[in-house]
Amino acid sequence: MLRDIHTEQKDCDARIIVMAASTRTGSMNRALARRIADELEGGGESVHVVDLADHLMPLYDGDVEDRDGVPPAAAQLAKRLSSAEVLVIVTPEYNGAFTPLLKNSVDWMTRHDTRVLAHLRILLASASPGRGGGARAVDMLRTWMGNISVEVAEHSLSVGAAEVADDGTISGVDPRALAEFTDQAVRSDAEASS
Ligand SMILES: Cc1cc2nc3c(=O)[nH]c(=O)nc-3n(C[C@H](O)[C@H](O)[C@H](O)COP(=O)(O)O)c2cc1C
Repeated sequence: MLRDIHTEQKDCDARIIVMAASTRTGSMNRALARRIADELEGGGESVHVVDLADHLMPLYDGDVEDRDGVPPAAAQLAKRLSSAEVLVIVTPEYNGAFTPLLKNSVDWMTRHDTRVLAHLRILLASASPGRGGGARAVDMLRTWMGNISVEVAEHSLSVGAAEVADDGTISGVDPRALAEFTDQAVRSDAEASS
């Protein structure tokens, strides 16, 4: 029991949150999120992987909000993000865009706190079975983040021709591209000492 409490506390304190915008069993974006988290943890970072399946919310509707208020799942996720410094979003590409799951989750969270993402350094990644790797979804996500005044790190990571093996790991990830990507989540010496 004590161990569970400590694990939960460590999760809440994580400096970096990695979140896949898919709840699908066998999702390649969830697998990429795990790969990114492993890379960051290997570098000594404290990381928590958010599973949006644990934070399911109804489709946003003003009538639902008037009737039931902001869903507890949205407030809980917003609270979790509030103590983090970095958010890595890993999105599938659906018809050239990021997923409605992501849009809906963020929309609800902004009803809890309009500036819910404002304090975060955001990194964007995607994976797809196609050659483009979901880069168009990342481009749209970058534009949207700009529209809501959220800063996004320069380098994104898009994994094309991705596959998930039986053990749940993702193939096709270029180690150098991954390292360049995750470096953006690491605190610089200047930041760490200030
Ligand atoms: C509605 C829909 C639209 C899709 N559109 C695209 C697309 O535009 N580009 C692409 O590369 N893959 C597209 N795909 C394929 C997804 O990349 C693929 O299903 C992927 O496995 C979804 O991510 P996940 O494995 O993390 O759930 C689409 C899939 C769905 C269900």
